[in-house]
Amino acid sequence: MYKGKFVTLGVESSCDETSVAVLLDEREIVSNVISSQIDIHKEYGGVVPEIASRHHLENINGVITKALEEAEVTLKDIDLIAVTVGPGLTGALVIGVAAAKALALALDIPIVGVNHMHGHIDAAYVKYPELKPPFTSLVVSGGHTNIVNIAGYNDFEVLGGTRDDAVGEAYDKVARVLGLGYPGGPKIDKLAKEGNPEAVDFKRVWLEKGSLDFSFSGIKTGVLNYVNSEKQKGSSINNADVAASFQAAVIDVLAGKTMSAIKDSGYRKLVLAGGVAANSKLRDTLIENCENAEVEVYIPDNIMCTDNGAMIAVAGQLKYKEFGGDDLDIDANPNLEI
Ligand code: KG4
Ligand code: ZN
Repeated sequence: MYKGKFVTLGVESSCDETSVAVLLDEREIVSNVISSQIDIHKEYGGVVPEIASRHHLENINGVITKALEEAEVTLKDIDLIAVTVGPGLTGALVIGVAAAKALALALDIPIVGVNHMHGHIDAAYVKYPELKPPFTSLVVSGGHTNIVNIAGYNDFEVLGGTRDDAVGEAYDKVARVLGLGYPGGPKIDKLAKEGNPEAVDFKRVWLEKGSLDFSFSGIKTGVLNYVNSEKQKGSSINNADVAASFQAAVIDVLAGKTMSAIKDSGYRKLVLAGGVAANSKLRDTLIENCENAEVEVYIPDNIMCTDNGAMIAVAGQLKYKEFGGDDLDIDANPNLEI
């Protein structure tokens, strides 16, 4: 079907999305099937690891078949299998890794293990064919908050990270306190548009001067204390104001540290990555800050910000081009660092 093109199959199963994509050459995605378990986990208020693994196992073969069909390729057309090896939930990761290994063995083609966080960053290449390193990236997801310098396609230097909760985790926990349900990020994003960001002055945590690390556990407690003390006073709580004020505090710090990292690195490009990069206020703030600083900003479409197989295919292909394939004994590594 795609004669002369290099076909990569990307497999992602690190958390609550089973996703498989087909990539042609470096940046052309021809299918990206995402089977989300959000509706299942929302009953529990968050991802339940055992349930996630069971659903990955039930879904993986069907998702692979659908991705091939949508891309109009057969198994024989695939040149490379790329699979998330970490970070993520152990039981969830092993399902994708086992499926990918079985395919690589049966088809006698190379396999590459992909770092999920590299995938989030590399998602931007799909929308922006002209984008090349070096650039700085703000990676914000349910499990991670990092500022990273990308000096080359496979050269990632972490400048800072969270010392406690990830920003997506803080969104999800605050949403739970406000009774908004799971996942909380999109709900707070929407509700905050109707609220006053100056209604409650939640503390901005900057840590030591010059540090590019983050801490978000304090603000989560701050919101909980505020809600409890208002309830005790018998006052009614304006959820929209709390959501807007929480978001303003978090985004002040995220944007402030990102802009200072860009200033230090001297790179003139910023890539936003990860599930929280779908946040409209974060996007608008960084677009504005970057415009003022004459920095180009690159933001993938929402579907490429949350977990998906396409970003894994792109990162895997880049890794394979520079380093070749991995051995078939690659394993899941739930605590893999960027
Ligand atoms: O990257 P991702 O899909 O999964 C992980 O690798 O963690 O990120 C999921 C996180 C969740 O915490 C979710 O609440 C958050 O991304 N999120 C958002 C938005 N959309 C998703 N947070 C804020 N605003 C959004 N619009
Ligand atoms: Zn992710």
